[in-house]
Amino acid sequence: MGENQHLVEIVGVRKSFGANEVLKDIDLTIGRGEAIVIAGPSGSGKSTLLRCINALETIDSGDIQFDGRSISDAGKEVHKLRAEMGMVFQQFNLFPHKTVLQNITIGPTEVKGIPKNEADQRARELLERVGIPEKADSFPADLSGGQQQRVAIARSLAMDPKLMLFDEPTSALDPEMIREVLDVMRDLARDGMTMMVVTHEMGFAREVCDRIVFIDEGAIIEEAPPQEFFENAKSERARDFVDKILHH
Ligand SMILES: Nc1ncnc2c1ncn2[C@@H]1O[C@H](COP(=O)(O)OP(=O)(O)OP(=O)(O)O)[C@@H](O)[C@H]1O
Ligand SMILES: [Mg+2]
Repeated sequence: MGENQHLVEIVGVRKSFGANEVLKDIDLTIGRGEAIVIAGPSGSGKSTLLRCINALETIDSGDIQFDGRSISDAGKEVHKLRAEMGMVFQQFNLFPHKTVLQNITIGPTEVKGIPKNEADQRARELLERVGIPEKADSFPADLSGGQQQRVAIARSLAMDPKLMLFDEPTSALDPEMIREVLDVMRDLARDGMTMMVVTHEMGFAREVCDRIVFIDEGAIIEEAPPQEFFENAKSERARDFVDKILHH
């Protein structure tokens, strides 16, 4: 598997829920180290696309290759593929009765068999990286939403993922906490993490991502670098979307 190959290659993917075709012939590639933002109206299929990549949903046809392996063919090995991707949702889903440190080390120790002292040390480094080293022994309920989301990001990073999927990671946060989470994501992108981010934070998109992928009604309408997308979108639908989101 050559290092030059794209990390994610999506070819002709279709997905329906009953009669509702939610993804219609999606083609998309993500290069190693690339950060892309997926934008589009509510119900356009953004979350479903991420969930298909993460094998939380099966696809009806087409193929998704992750690091040279087809997700649909993974069978019983699918948990191994999934362990190579981090997913951060709107809800943080931390274990309420475990400390911050325990939340971060449970994956490495129980799934990867990493010794506890090693996992602890790595977790502390990650807490440093997301800006809350002093919260290691706190419980999630004693943290702000922004701090909890940063723990969730640290927890994903502790598994050494090749790809990070973010599905509206700041949508549930109070405005004053959005910045601190976006800053962590920005640093992650700058450090070379491959990322797919569903977000309505167009400032982040403009500043951080390499490419915006605009989805509407289950189809990719347009892909462009942020500046081009915001200033010179080709499709009317993308221009309408930009107008609405920038001037609402
Ligand atoms: N498990 C499911 N069962 C049935 N329909 C589903 C399921 N998940 C999603 N859908 C439908 O698929 C379509 C796309 O949903 P999806 O959640 O991917 O959209 P989205 O772009 O993430 O929207 P939002 O911006 O509101 O999060 C919607 O019509 C939704 O109702
Ligand atoms: Mg969604």
